[in-house]
Amino acid sequence: MLKQRKSIVGLDIGSSCIKAVEITQDKYDYVITGYAQTEVPDEQGRHDAIAELFRAGKFRTKRVATAVSGKSVIFRYINMPDVPDEKLLQAIRFEADKYIPFDVNEVELDAQKLMTVDGEGGKSEAKVLLVAAKKTILEDHTRMLADIGLQPISVGIDGFALGNAWELADLVNPGVREAGRTVALIDIGATKSSINILRNSVSCFAREVTMGGNELTQAIIRRLGIEANAAEALKRDPGDQMSTVQDAVGQVLEDLGNEINLSFDFFENQFDGEVDEVLLTGGSVLLPFLEESLEKIFEKRTRVWNPVEGLKVKSDSVDVEALNQFAPQLAVAIGLAAAT
Ligand SMILES: Nc1ncnc2c1ncn2[C@@H]1O[C@H](COP(=O)(O)OP(=O)(O)OP(=O)(O)O)[C@@H](O)[C@H]1O
Ligand SMILES: [Mg+2]
Repeated sequence: MLKQRKSIVGLDIGSSCIKAVEITQDKYDYVITGYAQTEVPDEQGRHDAIAELFRAGKFRTKRVATAVSGKSVIFRYINMPDVPDEKLLQAIRFEADKYIPFDVNEVELDAQKLMTVDGEGGKSEAKVLLVAAKKTILEDHTRMLADIGLQPISVGIDGFALGNAWELADLVNPGVREAGRTVALIDIGATKSSINILRNSVSCFAREVTMGGNELTQAIIRRLGIEANAAEALKRDPGDQMSTVQDAVGQVLEDLGNEINLSFDFFENQFDGEVDEVLLTGGSVLLPFLEESLEKIFEKRTRVWNPVEGLKVKSDSVDVEALNQFAPQLAVAIGLAAAT
């Protein structure tokens, strides 16, 4: 039994907060066996903060699954002649320079077939999501982790990690989901919002929007003329100033919601279907009125999603209260740990 156990730490290195969730998996169960998070306001502090997180946290393993994001990661949707899955990457390599602004030799490519459709002349065509990340970014990233003494085993992207967390939830909460539903998972962090739309549990659309909680804080600073730390504190705990905060961030939420709506429109046009439900994660969804505000803009069923639900937790090594409090913020870390 013991031999079959495998522990992996999903390490989500966010721009404002680093989250680490260890999942130990055996034949029967997925158990959260370690958890820690720490706020890191700038890139310089990251290395030391991760090292400290692992020094202080009670993790069993140094094997980490991480993700990269930002401008060095590119998503493209392309239509191409259908080829078997195992030949997809090879076929794309030939054409990639048409779609990405970097030299093909400088990037790591990944591709996922989303759907096949009948093309001209009865030939089958595939809709493919192409993801390209600069090799230098990936190398820097894994070097930093190795330098801390960690063992990086995979590097993904936030959007797909969300999809994995969703699949895991399906596995540990069997029968809870209605089949045939299309869900949009949206993780609203500090600098970006990651979107992954899944139909029948298959990812059809992934994208990042460069808006997040930082814009909400900026709006509070502008409206109330207070300094950044005070605005951040007020956002997290508005107390009796709830309506002031709500007013201050209203326009930014509207802009964010509209930007996300564009992705829904794109999906609905391309895939001839509708998003049935929106599930929100990320630190910014801890804002109490966010769920309701976005639901009005999306005009779709919208709720905050708890990716910890249904997972077992080892309470002697995990601060269960903190885990539950921050659960929606942990979707990417959980998905990274679950993916491998
Ligand atoms: N209680 C709270 N209420 C409102 N916002 C909060 C709360 N707690 C944290 N946040 C916000 O959540 C954001 C951090 O969330 P998260 O950890 O998901 O982001 P990140 O992963 O560091 O960022 P990114 O994914 O953009 O790189 C910050 O903008 C922070 O202000
Ligand atoms: Mg994040």
